[in-house]
Amino acid sequence: MTTTVRTRVAIVGAGPAGLLLSHLLAAAGIDSVMIDQRAREEIESTIRAGILEQGTVDVLTGSGASDRVLRDGHRHDGIELRFDGQGHRIDFPSLVGRSVWLYPQHEVLKDLIAARLAAGQDLRFGVSALHVEGVDTDRPSVFATTAGGEDLRIDAEFVVGADGSRSVVRSAVTGSSTGGYFREYPFAWFGILCEAPPSAGELIYSNAPAGFALISQRSASVQRMYFQCDPEADPDAMSEAEIWDTLQARVPGTTLIEGPVFQRDVLRFRSFVAHELRRGRAVLVGDAAHTVPPTGAKGMNLAVADVVLLDRALRALLLEGDGRLVDEFAETASRRIWKAQHFSWWMTSMLHVAPDASDFDRRRQLGELRSVVESQAGRTYLAEAYTGWPLEGLG
Ligand code: PHB
Repeated sequence: MTTTVRTRVAIVGAGPAGLLLSHLLAAAGIDSVMIDQRAREEIESTIRAGILEQGTVDVLTGSGASDRVLRDGHRHDGIELRFDGQGHRIDFPSLVGRSVWLYPQHEVLKDLIAARLAAGQDLRFGVSALHVEGVDTDRPSVFATTAGGEDLRIDAEFVVGADGSRSVVRSAVTGSSTGGYFREYPFAWFGILCEAPPSAGELIYSNAPAGFALISQRSASVQRMYFQCDPEADPDAMSEAEIWDTLQARVPGTTLIEGPVFQRDVLRFRSFVAHELRRGRAVLVGDAAHTVPPTGAKGMNLAVADVVLLDRALRALLLEGDGRLVDEFAETASRRIWKAQHFSWWMTSMLHVAPDASDFDRRRQLGELRSVVESQAGRTYLAEAYTGWPLEGLG
C-alpha cells in the first residue's frame, strides 16, 4: 500500500540546505514536506565543519532560524597562514569589513530541526527517497520508502534535491547519478576531536614540509584538529602519541596543548559540480549539487547561498506564477559555485604537500604563499573569499 501526500515543495534531505529552505518557504506561506533517510540523532550528531560566513550567520539570525549562533558561536576576525616556520595573520575586518563565526554544523542542524518541528513542519526521518518522476511536468513526485518498509509518494509542484553527495534526486536532474565535473586529490584529512583547552585563539592553516595541518577549535574544553594523510589511512591505526607527534611537527612554532582524543576520522575529499543543477521542476542544492574540499570552509556556506537564491525563485514561481528566476537558477547559482570551487581548490593546493611534489613544486608553493601574505591585494582576495561574497537573492 502506498501513502500519498500532497504539498507544494517536496524536499529530499534534512541537512542545512533542506532545513533552511523549508524554514524560508514557510515564512512565505509555502508548505513543504521534507524527508531524510537518516534518524534525527544521526543528523544532529555527525561531526562536520565549523566555519560560518558572515552572510550565513545573517541569514540564520535574520530569518529567526537560530540566534544561538550569536550566543554559543565565536566570532573570528582572522586566520593564520603558517609556512616556512612563520605565522602570518590575515585580518578580516581591516581587509574586507567582515568576519566569520565558529559554530559547528551539527549545532546549526539542531537549531533548524528544533525550529522546524516547533513550527509544525512535516519532516520525516528514516524515509529513503527511491526516485523522482515528472520533473518535466507541473506535478513532479518523489517516491520513497519508510523505515518500516511502507511506500510513500509525495506529489508536489516542485522537487528539491538537498540529499547530499550521494543524492538520489541528482539522476532525475542530470540523467545519471554521478554526472558532474570533478577532481580528486591524492590526500585526505585525519581529523580529531580532543579534550583540551584551545592551543590558539584563531584557526591556523599550516603548510609544513611533512604536510598540511589545521588547528581549529570547538569550545573551551574541546578542540578540532586535522592533518593531511593518505586517503587510504586507517583512522584506528595510529596511537594518540603518534597523532600528537604528527600534529606538533606540522605546526612548528606552536606547542599544541594535548588531551585525550575521543573521536578520529579520515575525511576523503574531492571537488564536484553536477553537470546540471535544474531540470524542469527539480533542482539540486548543497552537496547534492556540489562538494568542495574542506580547506576553504565553504561547504555549508555554499549550501546556504544556493538556498537563499532558490527561496526567492520558488516564491516568484509559486506565489506569482513567475518562472523566470527558476529558469535562471542554475546560471546564477553556478557563478558563486565556481568561485567557491576555485577558492577551495586554491587553498587546498596551496597548503597541502602533494605526494609527488618536486623541489621545484615545493619552492614555488612557498613563493605562492609569500605572494599572498606579503601583498594587500593577496590578503584581501583571501579574506573576501573566506568571509564570503555577498549573497545574491536576499530581500
Ligand atoms: C572545522 O573546524 O571543522 C573546520 C574549520 C575550517 C575548515 C575546515 C574545518 O576549513
